[in-house]
Amino acid sequence: MTEQSFSIIAYLVAAIFFILALKGLSSPTSARQGNLFGMIGMTIAVITTLIIGENLIALLILIPIALGGAIGFVAAKKVQMTKMPELVALMHSFVGLAAVLIALAAVLNPIEVHTTVQRIELFIGAFIGAITFTASVIAFGKLSGKFGAKALVFKGQHLLNLILAILMIGFGAIYFQNESILAFIVMVIFALILGVLLIVPIGGADMPVVVSMLNSYSGWAAAGIGFTLNNSVLIIAGACVGSSGAILSYIMCKAMNRSIVSVLLGGFGSDVAEDLADKGEKNYKSGSVDDVAFLMSNADSVIIVPGYGLAVARAQHALQELTVKLVEKGITVKYAIHPVAGRMPGHMNVLLAEADVPYEQVVEMEDVNSEFPQTDVVLVIGANDVVNPAAKTPGSPIYGMPILEAQKAKMIIVNKRSMAPGYAGLDNDLFYMDKTMMLFGDAKNVVEELVKTIE
Ligand code: TAP
Repeated sequence: MTEQSFSIIAYLVAAIFFILALKGLSSPTSARQGNLFGMIGMTIAVITTLIIGENLIALLILIPIALGGAIGFVAAKKVQMTKMPELVALMHSFVGLAAVLIALAAVLNPIEVHTTVQRIELFIGAFIGAITFTASVIAFGKLSGKFGAKALVFKGQHLLNLILAILMIGFGAIYFQNESILAFIVMVIFALILGVLLIVPIGGADMPVVVSMLNSYSGWAAAGIGFTLNNSVLIIAGACVGSSGAILSYIMCKAMNRSIVSVLLGGFGSDVAEDLADKGEKNYKSGSVDDVAFLMSNADSVIIVPGYGLAVARAQHALQELTVKLVEKGITVKYAIHPVAGRMPGHMNVLLAEADVPYEQVVEMEDVNSEFPQTDVVLVIGANDVVNPAAKTPGSPIYGMPILEAQKAKMIIVNKRSMAPGYAGLDNDLFYMDKTMMLFGDAKNVVEELVKTIE
């Protein structure tokens, strides 16, 4: 077998594993297997590349692989579930940076002469990579709270972006014509600035869509560089990541009733400051664990709405215990799941499955919304944006976003630590309704107390 036919077959096998990995990742039950397939595919791809590579300096490749692998292993072991999106954003930034560096290496290589098509590939791979790099760093900063999740909007923003994009393409065209290294570098600098400016106007609640979009960009950047390096497995893996990220962005936009264009134009959450201003004037009721235990024990039906705070407090096991106690008393208990509750799609489903909550108690938003008016008690636990009735009010920044209609229940109990807003930075009128009782405290402590009291 020639070296070329060996690499074609090995890369094909790796690509099949990548596709199986994506299939596995589409459901929580097969996700582990999907990850395993992805790891096998990547191992085959890396070993094949090492075998067919010419004049390789093995140590220069193996030492970074070992270092990167060790850092990745430790990071993945240590990261909390709630910090996953920011880790993912950070990883996208590495993919973007890698694409830029590979393109730069190819452009600076004095022996290589690039064909017209290769110059286009280098241009596309480098600018998408550069935008992905800085945009992901900003997304990481926003998600981790380092830069604040608020949208930063200023006059002439879109015009500035347009000018930068034109300049970036203009310098790309100069590089394309005469292979000017300087033009290429200037083009990359404009793309880096554009990456920052594209993300700063995007507010908290739209960040999940942005992260999956950056996932898609990083895939296309990798595919572009795959063409430059003439490496088919990089093209296939890049295209898989690029298209799956694009599909995920579409699904999330649909779940939040936002168009991808309005997400990209940004501005969501920028009027948060005024919104918070009226907060002090409103009154709310707060109760004790005993009050809530009494109310819940006397209900016929309870719907629990879990959110990000449940994940932070790791209260899912205590919550399951509480559910068992209530069901033993003959009370019907259901969990209402919003598609973007928490910090990543499927976050709540994973947490509840971890605590062995039976599948039949877990109901998706579109099925449970009609049940709220007949429900005696809704327990909103560490959730905020996903039950914000402002989504029904024209003019609100989240107008049109589908919500769990907890406000229609007969009685609402909200557990959180304070009156602070949720991720989108908006105040929530649900907390000030006559039939709402706030139950302040850490979700885990509060639920454990509730279990004891109900016993
Ligand atoms: P949020 O709106 O973020 O609200 C969570 C609430 O939990 C906060 O108001 C917080 O209030 C409370 N909390 C925090 N720690 C707590 C603890 N230890 N015990 C009790 N409560 C605690 O969450 P949500 O309703 O799940 O909405 C999700 C939001 O995140 C949406 O805006 C969504 O768009 C966005 N988002 C979603 C994703 C995906 S893909 N699902 C990714 C990123 C962002 P206190 O501080 O007062 O306790």
